[in-house]
This record gives sequence, structure tokens and C-alpha cells, in this order.
Amino acid sequence: MAYQDFRDFLAALQAQGELIEVERHVAPELEVAKALRKSAAIEGPAVIFKNNGSNFPLVGGIYNSRSKALIAFQSTEDNVVQNILDGLARRIPPVLTENAPVHENIVLGDDIDLSALPICKYSPDDGGPYITSGIVVSKDPETGVPDIGHYRFELIDKKTLSFLALPNHRFAKNIAKALQKGQKTFRASLVIGVDPLIAYTCPIQVSDDTNDFEVAGGLRGAPVELVKCRTNDVEVPARAELVIEFEADFGTTVMEGPLGEYTGYYTPGAAKPIARPTAITYRNGAYFQALLTGVPPTENHILKQLPFEASLLQQLRQRFPTVQRVAVPPSGGTQFYVVLSMKPRFAGEARAAILDVMSSNLRPKRVIAVDPDIDVQDSNQVEWATAFRMQPARDVFIMSDLPAGPLDPSSDESLPNDQRLGSALGIDATYPYGTVIKVAGEACSPALAEHGKEFLEVADIPGWRAYDFPELRKTVPK
Ligand SMILES: Cc1cc2nc3c(=O)[nH]c(=O)nc-3n(C[C@H](O)[C@H](O)[C@H](O)COP(=O)(O)O)c2cc1C
Repeated sequence: MAYQDFRDFLAALQAQGELIEVERHVAPELEVAKALRKSAAIEGPAVIFKNNGSNFPLVGGIYNSRSKALIAFQSTEDNVVQNILDGLARRIPPVLTENAPVHENIVLGDDIDLSALPICKYSPDDGGPYITSGIVVSKDPETGVPDIGHYRFELIDKKTLSFLALPNHRFAKNIAKALQKGQKTFRASLVIGVDPLIAYTCPIQVSDDTNDFEVAGGLRGAPVELVKCRTNDVEVPARAELVIEFEADFGTTVMEGPLGEYTGYYTPGAAKPIARPTAITYRNGAYFQALLTGVPPTENHILKQLPFEASLLQQLRQRFPTVQRVAVPPSGGTQFYVVLSMKPRFAGEARAAILDVMSSNLRPKRVIAVDPDIDVQDSNQVEWATAFRMQPARDVFIMSDLPAGPLDPSSDESLPNDQRLGSALGIDATYPYGTVIKVAGEACSPALAEHGKEFLEVADIPGWRAYDFPELRKTVPK
């Protein structure tokens, strides 16, 4: 059964020892961030900071570990990727309701005061407090199709926010269309605290004409319940904790940033449009959500990892059916480094698959292809493959003048985001096509033996896993 909402997920985390409550005062400015980083470093629990100086309990760290991601997907390590692929294969349209918990409290006009919310500061040189957990719901002004995605919002003052929407992400594309139509403003909503599968839907790679709520429905196996907002024409999850309805104003800019970003570096401050809240709506007893970002791994990275891996796997298999697994490790920001495993069907196919990944909207900077016997999630095995199956002069290539990856501090940051270029490194660490591999005395690719190109014997020791070595039991804790 799908989680009904954010609270349902919190209850599941608590039941599995993955959520604690802290009664003492913890300050939203840097102290919450320190606590969340400390917990993340030990793959520790999510935390409810009950005493944070506001009337809203603050929850952080709900995406900070793989074990919590598995609880979100109600899956195991063995079936989580297949469960996501199955979810992506079905689309379930949302349903509209008028009776929405998120409308239990409605604040409008002069009563709006963003300083009442426990908005955190995460890194010391951040330009101000940031909402990092918010999901923007915006509609394509031409088609009306809704998009959901995470976007950072800086608190400027109690009635003003500013935000970053990178040009290759759909919120920015929707804004660009509105501007082209001559609009000076654009209305959308920022949603806090949802069923985790709505949050995990955001990074899923789909075409721009996709209704993301249908994707979320497929992943949940049940429709998302939506309610129409009070001051715009956007529909938001009816059981969300809190929604900030806003109007972005492109005639007025403020300095937004710096922010310690997912790359592990500050993005410099720059002039950005303002967003004025037009309404704040929330449930009785609403939770606000903190989300740690910064030097990987953080919640930001875990939140993107499974959706990006499943999306790439789905994309690759359409053209390369022997692709088995894909890893987008947090060490590369869950963005810049991709490993895929496949059994090439003909010479050059691994390189073609690498190019396919390079041209995805993830914009990775290093893509490695390995054979299926290599565990793509195990960096030791990947390095072993690149050490002994790869010849740099033959198997490494660089593609230049690609669009730069998002917020890459090594690209030319003096240029606007849409003008930055980057390059990508491809490494084909699969055995040269036609190599016959022998493991434990048996040739693995007898079909290739006729090519007779090369013969490699893996020096593993047959039967070591099953070998009974009782003395070890005393020294290695189980
Ligand atoms: C926690 C988090 C924060 C993010 N913040 C931003 C942001 O401030 N601006 C942005 O353009 N993308 C941001 N992203 C990335 C996009 O939300 C994400 O890549 C999404 O897939 C882009 O939307 P689209 O696929 O609908 O175009 C963030 C992602 C996460 C997980």
C-alpha cells in the first residue's frame, strides 16, 4: 500500500528506528545543518526538531540514507530498481478533491509572514536562509501540463523569496514560455512535505510533455490526490504539509545566493527574479522540512540517485538491450559520474551507449562502461576493470563543447548558465569485443571463441566462497 502522505512515511521511519525526536532547542541557522550532517555521516536517523523557535516542528534527514530510500519505495536492494521500472511502465492519472487537509489553514495578503517558518541556513557563507526541500508545481503556459521539481528558494524578507531555475529544467522552460507570451509575472506553488514517492518522482527523467503526477501515480500504484490552489490555477497534493503559492516577478530582481550546493562548492550570488507569496496554506500541526545539501553525500544526492539510475537504465535499454545496471554515485554529485554495465553485441557498442548517457539531461562529465560481471556500485571493481580491460589510447575519448553540467564550478561561471560549455570523458572498460574469458576453467563466451582474438583467464580461486575456514569465524565479527 502506498504511503498516504508525509506523516505516514514519518510513522514508517519511526517504526523502523530511522526517526528520532529532539526536544531541546536547536537553531535553524547552522545548528540544524550540523546535526543533520552528523546524522548523515553515520547513516543515522532522520530528526524532528520540535523546539526550533517556530510553531512548526521541523523534520530533516528523511532522505539521508539508502535504507530510508528503500523504506520510501517499500522495496529491498534486490527489487527496488525493477519496482521503479514497473512503476514507470504504468501511468495513473491524479484525482481532484475539494476536501484538502492542506487547506485547513489559509493565510492571505497582509497576514503572510515567511519569517514564521523554520527556514534553515545550511552553510556559513550562504546568502541567507534557504528552503531546499520545496517542490515547485508549475504548468506549461501553452499546454497546461503540470511539472513538479525541486528548486532552491532563498528567504529575502518576510514577504519575499528568490529562486534558481536552471534553463534546462522544466520550471525554467515554463517561465521562458510565459515571458515569450509577454507575461511579466508567473504564478506557481512551492510544496513542502509530501508522500516520499512524489518527491522521488521529481528527478525522474521524462519528456517535457509528461504530467509528472501521472508518473508519481504509477510509482505509488495509486492516484495522487490533488486540490486546486487558492490564488493560482495550479493543483497541489491535497495532503501536503504546507504550500506557498507565489508569483514570480521578472521586473524586480535581488541578489540570490551564494549557496553551498550539491557539488560541494558555493555557487556565487547573482541577480534573480523575486517571488512574492500570494497565499500560505497548511495542515493542522503541519511539519516543515529541512533538506541538507552541500559536500556529497547529502539528502540531495540520495534523493536523486535511484530516480536517475532507473531513468538512465530505461533510456539505455531502448537502444542497448544488454545494458544490465547503471550507477550514478553520490561521490560525483549524483550527476557527473555514471557507470553502466553491458555485454556489447558488436564492436563499438559500448562507446555508443556511453555517448547516449553523455547526451542525457544529467550532463555527466565521466561515463564508464564495464562488463556485466563488474558490480557498478563497487568502486573497487570498477577501478579493477579500468585498470586491466582498458587501454587509454584505444578506449578513452573526450567529447568537447557539450552543455556544461548544472552548477559545475570548473565551468566558466562568468557566463550565464545557458552559455556555459563543458566536456565529457568516456571510458570503455569492457573487454575488447571478441575476447574469450575463462573463469574457473570454463570459457564464459563460447560463442565468441570462434573469433579466437584473445584468451584471458581470470585468476580467481574456484570454491573460495563455500570453503569452510572455521578459524576465521573467531576473528571476523558477523
Ligand atoms: C534537493 C534538490 C534541489 C534542487 N534544486 C534545484 C534548483 O535550485 N534549481 C534547479 O534548476 N534544479 C534544482 N534541482 C534539480 C532539478 O530539480 C532536477 O534535476 C529535476 O529533474 C529537473 O526537473 P525536470 O526534470 O522536470 O526538468 C534540485 C534537485 C534536488 C533533488
